[in-house]
Parts: sequence; C-alpha cells; structure tokens
Amino acid sequence: MGFRAQKITDRVYWVGAIDWTVRDFHGYSTERGTTYNAYLILADKVTLIDTVKAPFKAELLERIASVIAPQKIDYIISNHAEMDHSGALPQIIAEVKPEKVFASVIGAKALQEHFHFGQRLVPVQDGDTLSLGNLNLRFMETRMLHWPDSMVTYLVEDGLLFSQDGFGMHLASGERFADEIDDKILYHQAAKYYANILLPYSPLVLKLLARIDEAGLQIKFIAPDHGPIWRTNVGQVLNWYQRWAEQHPEPKVLIIYDTMWQSTDLLARAIADGVRDEGLTVRVMHLRANDRSDVMTEVLSAGAVVVGSPTLNNNVFPTVADMLTYMKGLKPQNKIGAVFGSYGWSGEAVKVITEELKAIGMDVPFEPFKVKYVPDQPAIAEAVRFGIEIGRLLKERLQKWMKR
Ligand code: FEO
Repeated sequence: MGFRAQKITDRVYWVGAIDWTVRDFHGYSTERGTTYNAYLILADKVTLIDTVKAPFKAELLERIASVIAPQKIDYIISNHAEMDHSGALPQIIAEVKPEKVFASVIGAKALQEHFHFGQRLVPVQDGDTLSLGNLNLRFMETRMLHWPDSMVTYLVEDGLLFSQDGFGMHLASGERFADEIDDKILYHQAAKYYANILLPYSPLVLKLLARIDEAGLQIKFIAPDHGPIWRTNVGQVLNWYQRWAEQHPEPKVLIIYDTMWQSTDLLARAIADGVRDEGLTVRVMHLRANDRSDVMTEVLSAGAVVVGSPTLNNNVFPTVADMLTYMKGLKPQNKIGAVFGSYGWSGEAVKVITEELKAIGMDVPFEPFKVKYVPDQPAIAEAVRFGIEIGRLLKERLQKWMKR
C-alpha cells in the first residue's frame, strides 16, 4: 500500500505531499514543515488542480493512483506557477498526457518561462467557466496575490474554492482539515504566512474579499495549496484576512535589535519595562535569536515597532540592515516607529534606521534615543521613560483608530 488520497467531498480528493522536514522555505522559517496540496476532481472530465514541488512527484502520483489511474486525468489546472506547485508539472504532463492544461494568461506564459517545455497551455480569463461534464469550474484572476499569474478556481457544485497560496499556511500535519487542528496554531501559522507573503498586497486582498462577497459565492470549503483545508466556519479565516489586510494596529510594542557589547540589549530591556508599565503587550526580539520571518509575524499586529542597533563601521549592525530591508519590502502600515542604540564615537546607526522606518511609511515622532558606550543608571531610567512615552502615544493612537 502506497501513499493514499484523502477525501474532501464526494468527488474531490486531496492528493498532495507532506514535507515534514523543510525548515527554510526560500528564507521563510518553516518550523512546522509544510504541505504542497494538489486536488483531484472525479468529474466526467477528471481534473487535477495544481501539482507539487518536483521531488514529491512520486507521492502525488501514488495518491492519485489510490483513487484512479493517473492516465485517466483529462485536465490539469495550474492556479500558480511558483515551483512549489508547478515543479512536478512537466513530468506529470509527460506521464499523464492530459487532454488540456489550463492556466491564467500570465500563468501560461510564466510556466513556459519556467520550464521551456513547449507544452501547449490553454489560457483562461477572469470569470471564465469550464465544464467538466457533470461539474463546473469558474476561474478568478488574483493578480499579485501573490504573483502576477495567480488565480483561484471555484468548483460551483461543491462550493469549494481552490485558493492556491491564499488562506494557506506552512504547517505539516496528519490532519487535513483546519477544524482538527488547535486554533492557536492555525492563527499563528496563518498570520505568519500573511505577514511574510501577502502583506504588501493587502489592498488587493481587501478587493478580493469584496469581490467574493459581491459575487455571492456560497463558499463551503477553502482548499489552499499549503496547510489544512477549511470546511467548517470558513468565515473565520476570511475574517482574519479582513483584519490583517486592514492592518489593524494592536496594543503591542515590538522591540527588535542587535547588540555588540550588550549596551543596546540593556536599552531594549529597559524600554520594554517602560512599555509594560503602560499596560501594553511587549515583545523583545534579538535579531540573532529570532528569524526575520518570525519577527514579521509580530510586526503584522504591532502598533509600534522600536528598532535598535549599535553603530558598526558608521552604519547599522548587518542583521538590523537585513531586517529593515525585509520589512521595507513587505510594506507594513499604520505603525509608530521609534529608534534607539548605543555608539562609541560617530553614532550613525539611529539616523540610518530612522530614515528606513520613514521610507517604510512609519510615523517616527520621537528623537532617536542613543547612548554613548555603556548606559549608566540615569540612561537606563531614560530608556524606561522612552518606553513609557512610546506606550502612551500608542494608546492615544489606538483610541483615535477605534473612533474611525
Ligand atoms: Fe506556494 Fe507562491 O507558492
């Protein structure tokens, strides 16, 4: 007995692969592994939705074969050209010889540019429908969510949305359905995925949610390309996306920093005490003890982001530069920014960080807090006050936000 398919509805099966061991997904830390989901629809025209990362091709084929001979597949639909979902596509096409392979217009071009395989692909447009004989699919382009080629596919009769990366998470599990998994794990991993993949496209996420609403789709299942399938209370994940896309600031201050001789570390901890005195949640993340993708998960909901660095060779510490570059690309909005650090003689780091936070779009209302060499007790007290001021300002801003 080989790998088995798992039934989702009477005619839809999960036939993907579980990657229990991956810990670095193109720079995103996947501490719980991931799944590459593919789905088989047993319609008159047997249809495969997406494939898997190339090394998992055999697992995909075995799961399909547990339900139907792979050569009976008539159609393949590629919702997204990124190689965690298309890597196995050329070999699957070669072995299955489907009648047609569908992708969005941009997707068809992107797949050619990846695989240079000369395969004739059928481009589909936003709103197009495809008859599978007894069932019907409807395509919806989701450009830049999160690639230009991205689209989702809706199985009308089952109310099932194949949502590619959207509403997914990196989470390897024996359970295939979200309702079988602890809510806290789901929330954390879905938030991490959103913060690191979809955050810069939040305005498009809001438009997509509005489109789903306006179209009156009766979504009963959301089947993403990573992580568990949503089959009960799909509104829960839709609500999470609405909130993340609106970028609601929360009463939380995130302090991220690196340190050379523990001066910046002392300041970070003192600032955290000040924030806590104001009754706010505080997170302190040393950049060599935390992966940048975990830092971004906290950035997603933080109302204030406080960044600290010693000055090294007239610049910021390299890990701080790395984090600022990463954060800038992900475009978090609605944050207060604040800056601190230690220095020996020139002290440029705080200026560099201030400019970067402003370039991200943060409001940076305070003068940077900087200390020469090692903070003494008055400097520590000043750092605590800095934390209190940040906390107070955030509370004021949150009150205004609530009144909007
Ligand atoms: Fe999971 Fe954008 O690929």
